[in-house]
Amino acid sequence: MSFLPKPHGGKLIQAYNPNYDLTQIERELEIDAIALSDLELIGVGLFSPLTGFLGKSDYESVVTNMRLADNTIWSIPVTLPISYQTAATLTVGEEIKLVFQKEVYGVIKVSEWYEPDLDKEAIEVYKTPELAHPGVKRLYERGPVYVAGEVTLVKKPEKGVFSDVWLEPKETRALFEEKGWKTVVGFQTRNPIHRAHEYIQKAALETVDGLFVNPLVGETKSDDIPADVRLKSYRVLLENYYPSNRVQLGVYPAAMRYAGPREAIFHAIARKNFGCTHFIVGRDHAGVGNYYGTYDAQLIFSNFPEGELGIKPLFFEHSFYCTKCEGMASDKTCPHSNEDRVILSGTKVREMLRSGTLPPSTFSRKEVVEVLIEGLKETATV
Ligand code: ADX
Repeated sequence: MSFLPKPHGGKLIQAYNPNYDLTQIERELEIDAIALSDLELIGVGLFSPLTGFLGKSDYESVVTNMRLADNTIWSIPVTLPISYQTAATLTVGEEIKLVFQKEVYGVIKVSEWYEPDLDKEAIEVYKTPELAHPGVKRLYERGPVYVAGEVTLVKKPEKGVFSDVWLEPKETRALFEEKGWKTVVGFQTRNPIHRAHEYIQKAALETVDGLFVNPLVGETKSDDIPADVRLKSYRVLLENYYPSNRVQLGVYPAAMRYAGPREAIFHAIARKNFGCTHFIVGRDHAGVGNYYGTYDAQLIFSNFPEGELGIKPLFFEHSFYCTKCEGMASDKTCPHSNEDRVILSGTKVREMLRSGTLPPSTFSRKEVVEVLIEGLKETATV
């Protein structure tokens, strides 16, 4: 008997078929890196119950109600944008090869295409119409028509440096079972793991059997630290400071949407598909700039009954090192003022790392900082 949650919607979608007969399919559609990642994640079941890119009724329902048309909770539209010219040539029922950099990765069976209301999508999903928001900017750049239909993944993208840590949901589920974990907490990040992250992960681990450190390594904005550099820092941190029998590292190869609260729900669902029973949501989860309130990504969970979502969010207050407490703490546990707390913004830390300045060890572990400074030097010279 398994203690892990059922995949979202009840069944783990497996739409990978490397032997799919492509000989009869002539048409090709060039897709971008985000669509490629969505295709792969649908194919391996990380976006279960999605079997393809959203049709109009699902899309409208997700944008307005955070649910698919059949009422399943789903907070971010997963769509395939095309141009008006391409749309004008489509036929319902035809199969089209999905091509990225001259390689065929998948096939879509076209069910429909439609013009999305991008203004509405921006406001509802990202909570802002501003093009300064990276998710909104990308939304408008990507295209005026969405083509929908079931997909088959025919080729998996190369894993490169991530090959030993890109575990598919069916693999993580088997691994968690093998380890005998009945409860597993998932942790999302698009950043290096700093002391505050470590603190909330370990606080969560005190109450569950296993921790799944699951950094996002898909498309991020250009000033975020590159995923390959981050990966080295995760490895060194885990080796030095985490109990290997309680912690598993695995990557989440999705694109970052920066949709704050909506993305927190989306992130939780993907982690449920990986087999996690719990999911960490700290301060300003998946946020960017000042678009969301510090705890909006926690508050949004109250819209959904926990049993229905099928994964339990674990909420954490803003955490930091306090020099008076001489330890990690949060507003909930520390009575001192900001002068006693080591709080650095992400932008400040990135600046320090890029200029080779070491953030204090009370902010980030020395081994992590060293790897990041070295890694950023290498990327700067490329
Ligand atoms: S993101 O993927 O959510 O954008 P980030 O690295 O900023 O990545 O945060 C990862 C997780 O840690 C999120 O759940 C976030 O809310 C939480 N978090 C980040 N910094 C802190 C902090 N200082 N205190 C509490 N939670 C934090």
